[in-house]
Amino acid sequence: MSAATGAVTDALRELHTRYAGADEGELADYIPELALADPGAFGLALISMDGHRYSAGDAGVPFTVQSVSKPFVYALALSLLGLDEVSRWVNAEPSGEAFNAISLERGTGRPANAMVNAGAIVATALVPDAPGAPRFERILDCLSRFAGRKLDVDEEVYASEAATGDRNRALAHLIRSTGPLPMDPVAAVETYFRQCAVRVTALDLAAMAATLAHGGVNPLTGDRVVPEHVAAQVLAVMATCGMYDASGDWLLRVGLPAKSGVSGGLIAAGPARFGLAAYSPLLDPTGTSVRGRLAIRTLSDRLGLHLMHNPALAGATVTLVTTADELPAVPAGERERARRERVAVAAAQGALDFTAAERVLYALDEAGAGRTGAAVLDLVRVTDLDTVARAMLRGGLARLAADGRRTAVADPDGRLREPGEKTGTVRSFTSRDEAVAWCAATASG
Ligand code: DON
Repeated sequence: MSAATGAVTDALRELHTRYAGADEGELADYIPELALADPGAFGLALISMDGHRYSAGDAGVPFTVQSVSKPFVYALALSLLGLDEVSRWVNAEPSGEAFNAISLERGTGRPANAMVNAGAIVATALVPDAPGAPRFERILDCLSRFAGRKLDVDEEVYASEAATGDRNRALAHLIRSTGPLPMDPVAAVETYFRQCAVRVTALDLAAMAATLAHGGVNPLTGDRVVPEHVAAQVLAVMATCGMYDASGDWLLRVGLPAKSGVSGGLIAAGPARFGLAAYSPLLDPTGTSVRGRLAIRTLSDRLGLHLMHNPALAGATVTLVTTADELPAVPAGERERARRERVAVAAAQGALDFTAAERVLYALDEAGAGRTGAAVLDLVRVTDLDTVARAMLRGGLARLAADGRRTAVADPDGRLREPGEKTGTVRSFTSRDEAVAWCAATASG
């Protein structure tokens, strides 16, 4: 077993062993077929942003997705209709109530959010139905793309819920009676029941969560399933509403967007980090897998996964803050030295976002504090610039230039250029030495 496989798999296995004996909780029985599940089943799975798969226990055992389908169908509705339109029909406020409560907004009748049944039925109904692309086929295709493989329906579980799902039918009729249900309530609920009966494994759920964490691109297949902004919107609603009336406590103690389901599936997503899933059908009173909750909470504690824990305080964005005369290749001449003294230099490394760009610009100011000379930004060891960081660095250099200061970048990969821009607006060189030499040669003094 390789180093990574060992480290991550060992953590999952250890949690599996630790909680396999936890036998509190009950099987869901209001959908009779779910009461036939093996109460001992317990699987854990984690998928990284590189598509590395790790698992322990029954991670390949199939079960029905149930409420864990809700964020993904919400994602489909959002990507087809946009947040403004979807929000006309379903709100995004935590209900503080159970999953099957009548969580409808006073006055409008709009469901509180798309994670409770009322809102999920509306989200399902919002998915367009067309002869060439029937609503349920679109939903099944979308869930399959999130999972990275073709999923199917457990017809027994579907029939079982269809035979007993009067509460959901009542909810749909109630929503329709107050306004916000864009279709026939009976048809909406039948599609919702089928969506809940889609068969998955813990590994599938980890891939689905990882796709949301990965900005909507499935890290196993490379398929862009939903736009980046939709993935962020869905994670936000999972964070505030995904665990129903336990959402606040979950965000407080575990700190990850999550979604539970009554068959025992539970997902949690670490944005830009991982997708995590558990399967174990014994449920607590909120309808969440007992072993799944224990395992994910402990994993979050041990590995420092809590979102508010600020894991991103990296100290190593800026690798150099100086003036060119302090650099190794200083030419001998006094005149040349004086010129180079007037060249501020800051070097950065790694992937730059807003936070990193602020550090880099601050460093460039420090390097040239009180000066009027040139400034060189060394991006040779920068591996990625997001659009915000690019705009900030370009803006920072433009401000120096507007102050009459000569500026140059060492940017061999053209990262500072806007996509499609051929020659940058900033003078660009392939190495720091060339950028410094150009600035020093043209500096006055
Ligand atoms: O609508 C229902 O009651 C089920 N098909 C799904 C509910 C569910 O999974 C709640 N989650 N914990």
